[in-house]
Amino acid sequence: MNTQYNRAMHADELAENSSRCMEIAGINVLLCRSGGEFFAVLNQCTHQDAPLQGGRIRNRMVSCPLHGMRYELSTGKPFGQLTHVPLPTYPVRVVDGYLEVAVPIAE
Ligand code: FES
Repeated sequence: MNTQYNRAMHADELAENSSRCMEIAGINVLLCRSGGEFFAVLNQCTHQDAPLQGGRIRNRMVSCPLHGMRYELSTGKPFGQLTHVPLPTYPVRVVDGYLEVAVPIAE
């Protein structure tokens, strides 16, 4: 599958251990900063589809606000008993101070 980087926001706008959701090429993405790194994941829990926006960000993990499942931001690996389905993740790069997120594009 092909991907394309899309400019999202200035990196300085995202504080450590915070997140911001935005639609990127039709995908509801949660941009996160933790451990000095940037991550992009689908803004939808794989348990019961709750938005992850507003969930606690710590130690490169995001917690679902609804039932508390945690996901590793770099891999989407779930931690908890409620689901074993990983969270989709997207590559992030910083270009000229801006975050760019790679999302799948139709071929
Ligand atoms: S919907 Fe996220 S843990 Fe249940």
